[in-house]
Amino acid sequence: MNGHRRPRRRVGVLISGSGSNLQALIDACSDSESPAEIVLVISNQADAFGLTRAQNAGIATRFIDHSAYPDRTSFETEILAALAEQQVEIVCLAGFMRILTPGFVEHWEDRMLNVHPSLLPDYKGLHTHQRALDDGAEWHGCTVHLVRPALDDGPLVLQARVPVLEGDHADNLAARVLVQEHRIYPLALQLLAAGRVAVDGDTALIDGVKGPISPDALREPKYS
Ligand code: GRF
Repeated sequence: MNGHRRPRRRVGVLISGSGSNLQALIDACSDSESPAEIVLVISNQADAFGLTRAQNAGIATRFIDHSAYPDRTSFETEILAALAEQQVEIVCLAGFMRILTPGFVEHWEDRMLNVHPSLLPDYKGLHTHQRALDDGAEWHGCTVHLVRPALDDGPLVLQARVPVLEGDHADNLAARVLVQEHRIYPLALQLLAAGRVAVDGDTALIDGVKGPISPDALREPKYS
């Protein structure tokens, strides 16, 4: 029951779809030693399978339909209210397919994580796997970063590399990268929740080491 440790950090996850990264976060937070607990999952899509995953785990869910609001700010005001109601302290974006305004992002500065399927700063935006293939990249991968207002920007925390193999196409490369997303995203959340991530300007420091780092480079791979 978390023993003598400090209270777990309360986490909200924003999704739009399948939520396989959400599932990885849920699984990691089910460990009684986890310094993070997911208290709310918000989707802007009513049929997102991630909502079912959350409900199966007994986590509160909200569907907030972006198309029901006249602009981004009013949509985000509703999200902020839902997060505040659950006293959320850390936000994870997990396949959330809406652009967030600078105001929202700044509200959560250094308390909001995103996972992106490339070795940032390479291949910001969409279709990252195809673009890596088109470039003949030898390595591809994924990154967890703290979120800043520009697209797929912010201090890089963890990165996992995946070799691009002969005959790879976007789908199987994406599947191999996704396995690594499921590995690094929960770990990055646990590190942030445990207070092991500091920020110095545009750089994240993980246990005092400049990010992004590989999960294999962590001296203490468990939480705190
Ligand atoms: C992942 O590839 C993530 O990197 C990207 O969107 C996808 C979400 O997948 N941002 P899932 O919903 O977590 O399965």
